[in-house]
Amino acid sequence: QINEAEVVLFSVPSYACQRRTTLDNHNVTLTDALSLLAENAELSDEDGRGVAFRRAAAVLKALPAPVTAMSQLTGLPCLGDHSLRVIKDILENEASDEVESTKQSDRFKALKVLTGIFGVGSKTADRWIRDGIHNLHQLQESGATLNRAQQAGLEHYNDLNQQVTKAEADAITEIVQEAVVSVLPGAQVVLTGGFRRGKQTGHDVDFLITHPEEGREVGLMPKVVFWLESQGFLLYQKTTRNSYLEVKDGPGRPSSNMDRFERCLSIFKLAKKEERGIKVTVNTVKTRDSVRDHTQSETDQNPQSHSYERYELTNPPAHRQWRAVRVDLVVSPISQFAFALLGWTGSKLFERELRRWAGHEKAMSLSSHALYDNKQSRYLRAASEEEIFAHLGLEYIPPSERNA
Ligand code: CTP
Ligand code: MN
Ligand code: MN
Repeated sequence: QINEAEVVLFSVPSYACQRRTTLDNHNVTLTDALSLLAENAELSDEDGRGVAFRRAAAVLKALPAPVTAMSQLTGLPCLGDHSLRVIKDILENEASDEVESTKQSDRFKALKVLTGIFGVGSKTADRWIRDGIHNLHQLQESGATLNRAQQAGLEHYNDLNQQVTKAEADAITEIVQEAVVSVLPGAQVVLTGGFRRGKQTGHDVDFLITHPEEGREVGLMPKVVFWLESQGFLLYQKTTRNSYLEVKDGPGRPSSNMDRFERCLSIFKLAKKEERGIKVTVNTVKTRDSVRDHTQSETDQNPQSHSYERYELTNPPAHRQWRAVRVDLVVSPISQFAFALLGWTGSKLFERELRRWAGHEKAMSLSSHALYDNKQSRYLRAASEEEIFAHLGLEYIPPSERNA
């Protein structure tokens, strides 16, 4: 064929966990478009459609060069009619009407603004929109009841919607490390999530904490949280205790994809770079400041006392020397550490694909706690991520290549 010499044909395996997906994406325009449709579907409670668009975007992220013609896509997995139509429109007209009209739609804009509040999911946002609430101002005026997470989310709206940098993640890593070794010497802290995959920014900072001696990690989270709180590092925290032993359906077959580790969803008060300086300075001088601010915010509990302007600040007041950052802490016993590490490194689609591969191709059940072999009726142990990939019959994919 004449064209075969000219057109680069692509070929990729069908599960994202069989592919290497770096951050070097050659098809950003296409994957942004498909990701937006995925996000819209997820926000509209259409998870099936959402996954389909996510899978299509992930295939394009794995390609070694930009797509220039539809003919290059022949034989690629996960590209359904709808995704192909969107890709074709963009290749031919530089834009997809569907993507553009979704982006401009009042409903999508409102869903984005409202779910941008920490603690607000698509169901809550949808309920508010049906009550005529489309923005933060209308939410403020509505008198809608907010839970503690949502109050904190609204209070720190601008900070939490600004990407966290790697430098900020590193600063928070130091703080978490100091907290953890202070309350349990020998305990280990690992950065997970997007930053472990090599991303330079993220929406939060994720940590996994363990201790090399099984059982020593029990009760660790409340101590870490108490240390952080007493040093003035926490603006908000909600700790959920470990419920793993309570599950009736067995660790291999969790009733949902949610794991059951002791976890803490928090909002850190991070000193601005010029204020951080030497650790000693942070922990002595800053503490008094923090305690004062903390006390102040306690008296501010009543939402009515906040003015609407307070949430709409485009720039923080010049005197403010800190910013709010979302931080997730998870504690795992060492026996489950490899599974927890694999499960918390992401990406979300990569995790989903790993579980789908395990179930559909290997008759195994993978969770962030364990791997269960349904044919052998036993758990497969693993001390490293490499061993888990091997159990699953997959080539090892390092974190930097899990950016599906
Ligand atoms: N995760 C999870 N259970 C949750 C929330 C998250 O197992 N309730 C896992 C996700 O599957 C993901 C990892 O934790 O693998 C990190 O999640 P998240 O912070 O939401 O995503 P990131 O990939 O870190 O992206 P970002 O940089 O935007 O934070
Ligand atoms: Mn993250
Ligand atoms: Mn997270």
